[in-house]
Amino acid sequence: MMIMKISVLKSYKMKFENNLEFAQSLDKKDILRSFREKFYLPIMNGKECIYLTGNSLGLQPKSVQDHILDELEDWASYGVEGHHHARNPWLDYHELFPELLVDIIGAKPEELVAMNQLTVNLHLLLTTFYRPDKKRYKIICEAKAFPSDQYAIASQVLLHGLKPEDAIIEVAPRAGEHNIRHEDILQAIKDNADELVLVLFGAVNYYSGQVFDLAYITKAAHDAGAYCGFDLAHAVGNVELRMHGWDADFACWCSYKYLNSGPGGVAGVFIHEKHIADKSLLRLAGWWGHDKASRFKMDKEFIPIPTAEGWQLSNAPVLSMAVHKASLEIFAEAGMKNIFAKGKTLSDYLLFIIDKINNKTKEKTIEVITPRGENEKGCQVSMLMLKNGHTIFNELKKQGVIADWREPNVIRVAPVPLYNSFEDIFRFGEIINKI
Ligand SMILES: Cc1ncc(COP(=O)(O)O)c(C=O)c1O
Repeated sequence: MMIMKISVLKSYKMKFENNLEFAQSLDKKDILRSFREKFYLPIMNGKECIYLTGNSLGLQPKSVQDHILDELEDWASYGVEGHHHARNPWLDYHELFPELLVDIIGAKPEELVAMNQLTVNLHLLLTTFYRPDKKRYKIICEAKAFPSDQYAIASQVLLHGLKPEDAIIEVAPRAGEHNIRHEDILQAIKDNADELVLVLFGAVNYYSGQVFDLAYITKAAHDAGAYCGFDLAHAVGNVELRMHGWDADFACWCSYKYLNSGPGGVAGVFIHEKHIADKSLLRLAGWWGHDKASRFKMDKEFIPIPTAEGWQLSNAPVLSMAVHKASLEIFAEAGMKNIFAKGKTLSDYLLFIIDKINNKTKEKTIEVITPRGENEKGCQVSMLMLKNGHTIFNELKKQGVIADWREPNVIRVAPVPLYNSFEDIFRFGEIINKI
């Protein structure tokens, strides 16, 4: 495959303006603008919608159909022989992904594996890294983590015969605040250091869009003698990650949000180099994690592959992986530095447009609950609607804007670099201004 590298995008840092010509001038300068053509934008009211929900489900790359058709054709042509003779032999299909993921996750290939789905992987990783005993049994996480994470953590605690109310320590924003302070995470870790087994955080909070300092949290967890892992669902493909360098023990993510790999698409796992060959680490085992040279001897003893692949259970879901491959090839072509640079500018422009909406009226309509610092936010901006929330959301929808409502009164908006334009953001603001 030919991968075109594009030079690093120059920072867009500039004085923004709230008019169409200005938004279009930014689009003209955008070296990623042609990538929008690689995606299907949903049609509403007879025209392309303004799609601002890439943080929930990314759009379909047009290349996906050919990738899936290739596999269907090979299946038709070869039947079971496709495991060896398909264009991308299915036996090794999952091995295509580590190289495509290294720049996205900031990891070494042997630390990465594409497999299963997010909550399943979270359970597999908790099985390995949450090993409580009488003295150490606590797990620290963010309050109001995505519900699936809360259920996974609580059920793991119960599996060990412990009570969630004793074992789970949640760090919440202070009263009257929307974001969690890092000093409060550090304090919770220090306060519970003697009993702590694991710190498990979302890298980006799904509700507020707050990006956490993963290196800081990891160091604090390690200083307390605990493991540290992250749910990267809202971070992967959105913000720069350096999971290896930051020394995280493990991470997992889904691929259907910023990675555009389709509803329920195959997910992924990072396990730090220092753990991958450690056979003493307990895990739930399956034949696809078994040593490749002896896998088909069908012997009784499980010998784990000494890489992240050693945590695999089942053979590769090739049709879902074909979508993932199509999408990750676009990321490789665009270059992660370009993607992150444009993502930052898009969300800065969105914040500017929201501020303009607020300035128009005496009373503020929208409170942005996403932190504004450069390293504290990604593409997503969460708007706490102080008045007319439902009316504004419904009107946006009527006028062809797909955003996302979270109870009780938050609209999440995420312009993403591969297919959103600055004009999308201007038009979004224009619609709200006219309501
Ligand atoms: C932070 C987070 N964790 C877990 C999940 C659940 O993912 P899945 O249904 O793929 O297991 C989601 C889904 O959106 C999520 O956002």
